[in-house]
Amino acid sequence: MSVPRIRVFPTPEAVARAVADHIVESAAVAIGDRGTFTLGLSGGKTPKPIYELLADAPYLTRIEWPKVEIFFCDERCVPPEHADSNFRMIRETLLDYVDIPPANIHRMRGEIDPETAATEYGRMLKERFGDDGLDLALLGMGEDGHTASLFPGSAALKEMEHRCVANFMDKLNTWRLTLTIPFLNRSHEALIPVTGASKATRVQEVLEGIGDAEPLPVQLINPATGQLLWFLDTGAAGM
Ligand code: 6PG
Repeated sequence: MSVPRIRVFPTPEAVARAVADHIVESAAVAIGDRGTFTLGLSGGKTPKPIYELLADAPYLTRIEWPKVEIFFCDERCVPPEHADSNFRMIRETLLDYVDIPPANIHRMRGEIDPETAATEYGRMLKERFGDDGLDLALLGMGEDGHTASLFPGSAALKEMEHRCVANFMDKLNTWRLTLTIPFLNRSHEALIPVTGASKATRVQEVLEGIGDAEPLPVQLINPATGQLLWFLDTGAAGM
């Protein structure tokens, strides 16, 4: 468990560039050490500009994409072409532009029965990682303190064994697929970019603690032997 590193940037664009730079460096180190870079990606609005940067010059050629393996931190239970699909968003902003062998892209199958999809994804992760985790998990934080599809009060937060589970969202009346806290906490690095003043109060609560209250999902992210890095713009940092 390490102390989180918190970096603050003047604009959301500067956050996106800093995260893209960090991913470039982590990829080079992992590929140098082990020959591959395993990267877990999230949906939502915040990572979009990061994916767009990575898909374009000068970032595009700064990563050895054929040696990258893509995993998903969460997925909505919809087909891969659906407007809400994280796979679709990530394909359209990044995967369509980079030279990654299709076999290196491990998407969650949002179109099939959620429990079956989670079980098959978890098995694949177990086979691929054993007791290890991702080189880098790119996460986000929602205004309610959720991360991946781990929402406050949801059953998936209690999962201690499996790497991936189906999680029913009462509020949204929908299923999601999500990596679990124990698996995310085996990541070598977890990056959490957060932008915008609407998240400032939550960021402060998360980073400063909320007394005896039940921890928020994002507060449970704490890689056991890895690094936790927050990238905030001044809005999210409340400055
Ligand atoms: C998703 C995410 C989710 C996201 C947060 C923040 O699929 O929506 O993985 O956990 O990171 O909801 O979303 P924004 O970046 O859109 O605020």
